Amino acid sequence: MLELTAIGKNFNVRDTIKGTARNAVKNRVVKALSDITLTINNDEVFGIVGKSGAGKSTLLRLLSLHIQPDAGSIRMLDKIIDKSSTSAQRRQLVQQTSFVFQGFSLLYNYSVIDNIALPLKLRGVDEKSRRAKALDLLTFVGLADKAENYPITLSGGEAQRVSIARALISDPKIIFFDEPTSALDAQTMKDILDLLKKVHRSYSVTMVLVSHQMDVIRYMCDRAVWLEDGKIKKIAEVKKIKKFAVDQLNDLWVDNHA
Ligand SMILES: Nc1ncnc2c1ncn2[C@@H]1O[C@H](COP(=O)(O)OP(=O)(O)O)[C@@H](O)[C@H]1O
Ligand SMILES: [Mg+2]
Repeated sequence: MLELTAIGKNFNVRDTIKGTARNAVKNRVVKALSDITLTINNDEVFGIVGKSGAGKSTLLRLLSLHIQPDAGSIRMLDKIIDKSSTSAQRRQLVQQTSFVFQGFSLLYNYSVIDNIALPLKLRGVDEKSRRAKALDLLTFVGLADKAENYPITLSGGEAQRVSIARALISDPKIIFFDEPTSALDAQTMKDILDLLKKVHRSYSVTMVLVSHQMDVIRYMCDRAVWLEDGKIKKIAEVKKIKKFAVDQLNDLWVDNHA
C-alpha cells in the first residue's frame, strides 16, 4: 500500500566561501537518497533506522509526500506520485495521513483540546463535533483532565500524547513518526511507545517510525529498513535483525544523535 520504486533525492546546497569578496557562493549537490525501493504493508509498523545524516528524515518526508522525489515513484493508497505530480494530487493523499514530530509542534496559543481539534477545524467541521471527538481522543491518550490547559503547562510526555491525539483526529490511514520519543526520558519513552502500541491495536492504521535507537525499533516494529549514506543497507523483519547483524547494528546504535 505504500511502495517506493527507485527513489532518489538530491539537495542543492549553496555554501558561502569565507574570505572572498562579495560573498562568493559555491553550489554543491547533497545526494540524500538513492535507489530506494521498498514496500510497506497495510497495518504494518515499519521502522527506518540509521545514523545521523543517513537520510531517515528525508525518506520519511518523501514517504509522507512532504517533498517530491527527483527520481522514481511512490504508490500511496493506490495513487502514483512522482516528480511531475501536482500539489493538488499530493494534498489529496496527505489528508489521509498524519505526522508526529520529535518536538510535538503544538500551537502555544491554543488550548490542548483546540490543538487536537485543529485538523478538523481546517476541514470545516463544526465546533461541537470536533471538540467532542477531540475529547474522546484526549481520554484515549489519558489526558481528559487537561483539555483546557495550554501546551506550556504540559510535560514532554503529555505534549507528545496531545500530538498523538491530534494525529488521530482525522482518521488517517498512515501515521508517520520522526523520532517521536527522542526528546523524552527513558520511562516516558516507554509510556509513549506503549501508547503507540495501543494506537496500533485500536485503529486500523499503518505506522512508519524513524528512530536512531534500535531498542525503539525492536519494541515497536514488524520490519525495518536500515539506511546508510542514503542507501538501503538492509530490510529485515525486526525479530530477525538480532540474529544476522547484531554487531554492526550495535555499532550504529551507540550514536545518540538523530
Ligand atoms: N533541506 C535540506 N537541504 C540540504 N541538505 C539537506 C536537507 N535535508 C537533509 N539534507 C542532507 O541530507 C542528508 C540526510 O539528512 P536527513 O534525512 O536529515 O538524515 P537523518 O534524519 O538520518 O539524520 C544529510 O546529509 C543532510 O545534511
Ligand atoms: Mg532526522
